[in-house]
Amino acid sequence: MLISLDKNSGTPLFEQIYDIIRQQIIQGELENDEKLPSKRQLQRDLSISQTTIENAYGRLLDEDLIYSREKSGYFVTSLEQLEPGSRQAATGIVRKKKKHYALPPGTIDTTIVQSDVLKHIAREAFSDDELLNLGDESGERKLKEQIRHYLHINRGVICATDQIFIGPSTEFLLEQALYLMDHPAMTIEDPGYPVIKKVLDRLGSKVDFAPVREDGVDTKTVQALSNPVVHVTPSHQFPSGVVLSLQKRIQLLNHAGAAGTYIIEDDYDSEFRYTGRPLPSLQGLDQNDRTIYMSTFSKVLYPSLRLSCMVLPKRLAELYYAKQLSCNVPRQMQLIVARFMDRGYLERHINRVRKIYRTKMETVTAWLREEYEDVEIYGDHTGMHFMLRVPGTDLRIPAEKHSLVHGSRYSQTEGLRDTVLIGIGEKSAEDIMDILAAFLGDVSP
Ligand SMILES: Cc1ncc(COP(=O)(O)O)c(C=O)c1O
Repeated sequence: MLISLDKNSGTPLFEQIYDIIRQQIIQGELENDEKLPSKRQLQRDLSISQTTIENAYGRLLDEDLIYSREKSGYFVTSLEQLEPGSRQAATGIVRKKKKHYALPPGTIDTTIVQSDVLKHIAREAFSDDELLNLGDESGERKLKEQIRHYLHINRGVICATDQIFIGPSTEFLLEQALYLMDHPAMTIEDPGYPVIKKVLDRLGSKVDFAPVREDGVDTKTVQALSNPVVHVTPSHQFPSGVVLSLQKRIQLLNHAGAAGTYIIEDDYDSEFRYTGRPLPSLQGLDQNDRTIYMSTFSKVLYPSLRLSCMVLPKRLAELYYAKQLSCNVPRQMQLIVARFMDRGYLERHINRVRKIYRTKMETVTAWLREEYEDVEIYGDHTGMHFMLRVPGTDLRIPAEKHSLVHGSRYSQTEGLRDTVLIGIGEKSAEDIMDILAAFLGDVSP
């Protein structure tokens, strides 16, 4: 038996011996019931200690790769041979390259997050050894209580703490909600948040589209399709930014109540309303417990936090507990956010940064309206992006050249060819204006 050891490799010698013999057994180089060299012989051949060999043989014995026979020594266990396969070294894996956008919609200004306060609270959470064991699978109660209070005051959501569920993302929570509803066919907005369709395609669910008008999703289409679930973004339709009118909210709720269907209300980006008061949530208006409400901390705190929540109707909430689903968010992170909210930091943070984003939004859009009379702007009353339209102009090539997000990314039809989506979160007003000036310089209406 050939064993060559590398005393400088950093891998303990017993582990090297174990690895070599193991490989030889698995690959059939050592035959079933073949006798292994005695410990003394190996000690002599390799000039190593007896303990090293005992450790290596001990591990092989533990894994049943060898067996010992009293006074005779060690032998290779009879194993079926592993068939050779086509396993390749895991190098050169082909990955789709993530496109880098100059003004993406999902990023924030990281300099205005109170990282000193977060760090302080994080230190407390990570010093609490109680948190090292698993907590409530559906999410930490302290966080749920804070969210219940926050959503009630700010979004008019009416629910019990036990109806709130935590998750790392809206995508994750959507999958859980769809699982609880037995993967229903769904009507979704067009244009809309592409992740919704991605999830439905992945699950093999049927998808229908309802067009978005100036006052929100076309409720006649939703009613005519009457799918078991409709997904809407009423506060700030993604990506158009339009607000679902009160009339249409009532139509959606009445239809869901009468037909026994569900509405998923994704309240993304509703916290940063720059003009007037936002309409309260659909969930708060619902008289029939047909609304699933979803929200995320990605904008009010920061996107990499990966913390979102949903409020389930009573029947689905009970099903969640019965099926023992899990939130999959670390307890420490949940409690950091719970304490941040409990001590009033979140409320103050939102009020402070809303002013910063409002100023930025107003500076950029006022400049555009002043300098470019051919462009149209919409969706700038709320959130951290707006739509820029150059009517009748196909913007695909200039958008590609300037790495801007083209509207067709969100559309199922030929629509939005003359539109780009401008995220204002990350860059300064000056940088945004520089990028847009260069882009519009290349656009001929
Ligand atoms: C409608 C909508 N919902 C949710 C999200 C993001 O959710 P999360 O932060 O939970 O991943 C986005 C991001 O663009 C969105 O457009």
